[in-house]
Amino acid sequence: MNYKNKTVLITGASSGIGKQTAIEFAKLGSNIILVARRKDKLEQVENELKQFNVTTLVCSCDVSKKDQVEIMSKNVLEEFNSVDILINNAGFAIYGSVFDLSIEEIESQMETNYFGMIYCTKNFLPLMLKKKSGHIVNVASVAASFGLPGIASYCASKFAMLGFSEGLKHELSGTGVGITVVSPIMVKTDFFEHPSFEKMPKYSPTSLNSKTVAKAIVKAANSSRLEIITPSVVRIAVWLKHTFPYFINPILGKSFKKQLDSTKID
Ligand SMILES: NC(=O)c1ccc[n+]([C@@H]2O[C@H](COP(=O)([O-])OP(=O)(O)OC[C@H]3O[C@@H](n4cnc5c(N)ncnc54)[C@H](OP(=O)(O)O)[C@@H]3O)[C@@H](O)[C@H]2O)c1
Repeated sequence: MNYKNKTVLITGASSGIGKQTAIEFAKLGSNIILVARRKDKLEQVENELKQFNVTTLVCSCDVSKKDQVEIMSKNVLEEFNSVDILINNAGFAIYGSVFDLSIEEIESQMETNYFGMIYCTKNFLPLMLKKKSGHIVNVASVAASFGLPGIASYCASKFAMLGFSEGLKHELSGTGVGITVVSPIMVKTDFFEHPSFEKMPKYSPTSLNSKTVAKAIVKAANSSRLEIITPSVVRIAVWLKHTFPYFINPILGKSFKKQLDSTKID
């Protein structure tokens, strides 16, 4: 697909995967709308994009707040007539057992990772449908396929994202609008800077860099697939989980539980 002059809106664009995705689309000549809470960080990204001579817009917005998303989308649509590609990438996790996490901490992950995606989708989808073109890319995780100890509520938010996307994909059939979920394994970003990850090893030898995921997102924006798992070899693990749940679930569960227990020992 030719992304030149297409308008791409990326949530969570101030850091990590979102920032790198902005760079990859800018290289291809797209107009870039950068959305996140930290305006200063977004402006730094906007400065980095200047070398690509593309049109940019910075929008400071907390996607977990319905009203803020509504105002942000109005501002965006005043400046650009429509959004061709919506990338729902903003998200975070709080590490800890369900027992230790507060209800507010559990709610906050759902509000950003799941409802933030819904608010953006609801505001930009109608114009995509009117134009009979466009694509939504939802950044989930392999945690959308495995419920894991220590990140149960994060997994729930990503399971929800995948389920919603699958349902919406069927609804969008024949409309010219597509939706694809990108599900990476661990990625080296600020994601693990949240204080709750303090006692956790930040990365594993298999951790991806954000450029690999950003390239998968660019591919996803023109894909007819529901889900792109990155790296693709992890699809085997997902298949194994669904086909032989009694085999792989206890292995993964035990290893993540061991990790969770070890973070509780001082
Ligand atoms: N890193 C991994 O291992 C990994 C693996 C699989 C999937 N993912 C997913 O990838 C996505 C991006 O994460 P990342 O790894 O790039 O982490 P990151 O570097 O921490 O970036 C997260 C981005 O989300 C934004 N954000 C968080 N809460 C927000 C809110 N309420 N409203 C608007 N923006 C918000 C942050 O910006 P502000 O703080 O400026 O708002 C930041 O730009 C997330 O959805 C995450 O679940 C990450």
